[in-house]
Amino acid sequence: MHEDIEEILVTQEQIKAKVKELGHQITQDYQGKNLLLLGILKGAIPFIADLSRAIDMLHEIDYMAVSSYGNATQSSGVVRILKDLEGPIDQKHVLIVEDIVDSGLTLHYMLDLLRQRHPLSLRVCTLLYKERERAKPLELAYIGFRIPNLFVVGYGLDYAQRYRNLPYVGVLKPEVYQNNQKPERQHKSPAESS
Ligand code: PRP
Ligand code: MN
Ligand code: MG
Repeated sequence: MHEDIEEILVTQEQIKAKVKELGHQITQDYQGKNLLLLGILKGAIPFIADLSRAIDMLHEIDYMAVSSYGNATQSSGVVRILKDLEGPIDQKHVLIVEDIVDSGLTLHYMLDLLRQRHPLSLRVCTLLYKERERAKPLELAYIGFRIPNLFVVGYGLDYAQRYRNLPYVGVLKPEVYQNNQKPERQHKSPAESS
């Protein structure tokens, strides 16, 4: 375990088993369909790489990158598109792949945006789902793990852009935040907010 980590919430083995299970389920559910896995950069990278290889049918992969409009984003949920999809999705069954759903604002924005492009279907697969109150309810087709409302890092999730490479999901030691404020939600790290 890395020295900055206080506690592991989801182990490497648990992730591996869950990814396999989700891959099987998605393979069954999308049989004969034109599937596009849509990863949300950057957090979804490790998950989509593993999940894609656990899906036993041909499919496409593309990515979108979004960023916030300063501080207003935290309440409004408005995000800016940094990287868009390469083509239209009206002939595709789109499955958004996320590492975590926290406030749900990122996903709400993505869903509203993508719905306007009329995909054949639009669903979400998230590895982690935080148990917390949300302003708007979200419909999630696939959830890997439900976790408590703690700021977590690893397996794609960052604190100030670091720790994404840890093979497990864990909670940081409080002293790591010492000179910085602990982020209120996963969407923003203090180093990015100024
Ligand atoms: C994190 C995470 C989700 C989002 C979840 O991404 O990867 O995409 O926040 O938070 P929310 O449900 O409260 O919107 P972030 O914006 O930090 O970008 P990153 O993936 O590049 O780390
Ligand atoms: Mn993200
Ligand atoms: Mg982040």
